[in-house]
Amino acid sequence: MTDFQTLLEFIETETGFATSYYDESYLDRRVSARMRRRGVEEYADYLTLLEEDDDDERAELLDTLSVNVTEFFRDEKVWTALRDVLLELADTVRSIDIWSAACADGREPYSLAMLALDAGLDPRNVSILATDIDEDALARARAGRYESTRTADISDQLGFLDNPQEYVDREGDRAFVVNDRVKDLVTFERHDLITGDPKSGFDLVACRNVCIYIDKQYKLPILDTVSKSLREGGHLVLGQTETLPGEVKERFEAEDPRIRIYSRVADT
Ligand SMILES: C[S@@+](CC[C@H](N)C(=O)[O-])C[C@H]1O[C@@H](n2cnc3c(N)ncnc32)[C@H](O)[C@@H]1O
Repeated sequence: MTDFQTLLEFIETETGFATSYYDESYLDRRVSARMRRRGVEEYADYLTLLEEDDDDERAELLDTLSVNVTEFFRDEKVWTALRDVLLELADTVRSIDIWSAACADGREPYSLAMLALDAGLDPRNVSILATDIDEDALARARAGRYESTRTADISDQLGFLDNPQEYVDREGDRAFVVNDRVKDLVTFERHDLITGDPKSGFDLVACRNVCIYIDKQYKLPILDTVSKSLREGGHLVLGQTETLPGEVKERFEAEDPRIRIYSRVADT
């Protein structure tokens, strides 16, 4: 076993971060960034730092490894298409069940809820399940409080909506809390897309920007879980740089391949 693999094994057993799910070059980039920060050149020396948990290095590393990067209305053109999907669903099904799989800190499911309200859907007929593997991200999602940072202006992120003030309570210029009209549509739950059971009967599943970080061998299990969770004719939306692996491709028809929206066809 190389020193890097020993280090990854230590991280997995001691911190609970499932390094084995992630692409090795991604992990190497992140670990190396921490090593540079700490002025350490060898993986074995960095392991010693972690063993001693010097300056809370474990927490710093976990922060660096977790890819919770997300935005409200990330990739706007997708949201324009999703508005049409929601309106079509409102005309064809009694209640609309949506799953935001790998929801990070909640911005994606809250965007879906705001979009449904903005499109004039009856909130009694919309329910959104939002899941993630990361309990800390889920805690932030449940709180629904967001603050602008140096690189991300949360007010800009709501710019997709005509009247964003209907969905959030402002806390000064730099923060807001998602209001109860929006929160009431969303339920958060921990779920691991690789080892967790599929769900069933969803009309729309968003599984965006998780497969890009995950080791190749786990992409199929993730998309298998997701596709089994959709009813026939249900819609799947992936991240803008993601594609369906060959093995699950035949279960879908591309509705708009440029923006990665697909519909589930019947099993043959
Ligand atoms: C980059 S965020 C994507 C957030 C959102 N879907 C978006 O596109 O903005 C990736 C999320 O995937 C979650 N994740 C990683 N592995 C997972 C797994 N096996 N099951 C469920 N969620 C996972 C991470 O915790 C993180 O919150």
